Amino acid sequence: MKYKSIRGMEDILPPDIYIWRDLEKKARIDLESYGYVEIRTPVIEDTSIFVRSIGEDTDIVTKEMYTFKDKKGRSLTLRPEGTAPIVRAYIEHSLDKISPELKLYYIGPMFRSERPQKGRSRQFHQIGVEVIGSNSYLADAEVIMQMSNMLRYVFKLNGFKIKLNSLGCKKDKEKFSDKLRKYLKEEESMLCQDCKTRIKKNVLRVLDCKKESCVQVARNAPNILESLCLPCEDNFKKLKTTLTNIKIKFEETKNLVRGLDYYTGTVFEVTHPDLGAQDAIGAGGRYDNLTKDLGGPTIGAVGYALGMERIIMALKKEPRKVSRVVYIATIGDEAKIRGIQIAEKIRIKSNSCLTVLTDIKGASLKSQMRSADKNKAKLVVILGQDELKISKATIRDMAKQEQIPIKLDNVVEEVIKRMGL
Ligand code: HAM
Repeated sequence: MKYKSIRGMEDILPPDIYIWRDLEKKARIDLESYGYVEIRTPVIEDTSIFVRSIGEDTDIVTKEMYTFKDKKGRSLTLRPEGTAPIVRAYIEHSLDKISPELKLYYIGPMFRSERPQKGRSRQFHQIGVEVIGSNSYLADAEVIMQMSNMLRYVFKLNGFKIKLNSLGCKKDKEKFSDKLRKYLKEEESMLCQDCKTRIKKNVLRVLDCKKESCVQVARNAPNILESLCLPCEDNFKKLKTTLTNIKIKFEETKNLVRGLDYYTGTVFEVTHPDLGAQDAIGAGGRYDNLTKDLGGPTIGAVGYALGMERIIMALKKEPRKVSRVVYIATIGDEAKIRGIQIAEKIRIKSNSCLTVLTDIKGASLKSQMRSADKNKAKLVVILGQDELKISKATIRDMAKQEQIPIKLDNVVEEVIKRMGL
């Protein structure tokens, strides 16, 4: 019998693991610069936490949770998402004592028993944040800005789109749900079987059904923004103005609702055009009632989660415009030592932004150049015995096929400059 990993749960192997570690490391540094602190909660929780928060009629709860009974007959669930467990931990440990506006981040696996397909797995990983303790649109703006700028400038991902909407407060959501139900009742014959059930159980979800006839019905559905109360309308306006002024691009999207019931107010989703059907690389929003619903104080909160598998898929699709690799090719024992020293200096000077490779096989110059090529190095620093005697080296630009001689003392500076740092 050949053992295999469980369907939809994948091994992460080298060299991909380096991409994962790189993202995790960069995310931590970026998030901490905004004052986020890390939280790690168990991967298993009491089932009722998810039923209560995500909603008993949602797809996640009705179809996708890994739920089982332990030896004592308690119902436990592998976490399908991170928000509810974090709110549980927030209440359990009175984390408001750490700070009245607590900024938490997490990186880790989530589990949903969905049909596996490209971009959809049963164990997947999220980088997420939860800001607990602010009712202001300013928290939403910062959360969306940090997410957008981390994707663009830290992960170097382009082409993504942020879709934005507001569901309004609990009352607005109820008011709109009634209005929508009325409208959908009239159009019921056009709807798929699932949506017919959703009218009764989870009416907002009809708006993001992907079936063509349902999409058409949704297109003419009432606009949720018309059901917002004045304070919610004002908040949404202020959020949009702030995002525009801080140059965060977004698209207001009328039918954007989310698959988790806890959202009220701001909701958003990030999509990437190269990912096909599963194009959401992240999503989030405000959940002002969740802390209270789980037995804690009434307190405003907002957050997001990014799907790491999908971000990595999108990064791999985008042609990397700039190589971050430098190869140090060396001839002779003395040059090997100097090569190792120079490589280490470049790594330190670049704050580990560059990948610097050296010969670890004692290979010929020709084979080192082949290795540099294979590793897509932008620059090769060549250190030969004769050059060393006159304290010189050669820098080769692989794309331009240009070589320039350079003083040994200036190699590190020159490499950093030529790599655009
Ligand atoms: P979500 O939209 O369910 O939100 O998931 C966030 C992201 O996780 C998705 O946009 C997607 O990138 C990724 N994801 C979800 N399911 C899968 C899957 N089966 N395979 C691969 N990737 C997947 C939440 O989880 C909320 N807790 C986000 C949040 C945090 N809202 C407020 N705070």
